[in-house]
Amino acid sequence: MDKQIEEILLTSEEIHEKVKELAGLIQKDYEEVDDLILIGVLKGANIFMGDLMREIELPMRIDFMAVSSYGHSTESSGVVRILKDLDIEIEGKHILIIEDIVDTGLTLKYLTDNLRSRVPASLKVCALLDKPSRRKCDLMVDYVGFEIPDRFIVGYGIDYAEKFRNLPYIAIIAE
Ligand code: IMP
Ligand code: MG
Repeated sequence: MDKQIEEILLTSEEIHEKVKELAGLIQKDYEEVDDLILIGVLKGANIFMGDLMREIELPMRIDFMAVSSYGHSTESSGVVRILKDLDIEIEGKHILIIEDIVDTGLTLKYLTDNLRSRVPASLKVCALLDKPSRRKCDLMVDYVGFEIPDRFIVGYGIDYAEKFRNLPYIAIIAE
């Protein structure tokens, strides 16, 4: 194991259990919807979205957005820039944003405000991880996998300076 890794917070098994549970809730809530669009927030949500979508037995389309918030620092600047916008028109569609982790909430706040201005039929958010103690804005997250303490974590798609995304588990790293 990498010497920067302090402790495993969530094992691969625990994550996969939770992903199935979230997929079950989503499938139930959207069973009447035949045009669901999942929007993954790159790059962190990549692995979560890949696992989650394969557990949801509903017709769907997917798209991705890339935004910059952290750069290489571990603190949110509050400044969000769109690096890659959607390919799909979302007006009148049912939209579920898939995010890896909600920290201050500023990134998702910006994203949901931005997407809401495109007038989707509905807009909800699913995040694997949430650090509620860090929230700096009013933000409603509809599906949350795990609430975690205020520690810097990596793995399962989530990086520190672009590294550790390939870890199959979620770990706390030494800051
Ligand atoms: P927010 O705008 O502060 O909510 O930041 C959200 C984004 O910051 C997430 O999508 C992650 O990319 C990143 N982030 C927040 N906390 C962590 C962490 O503990 N490890 C790695 N990235 C994080
Ligand atoms: Mg992210």
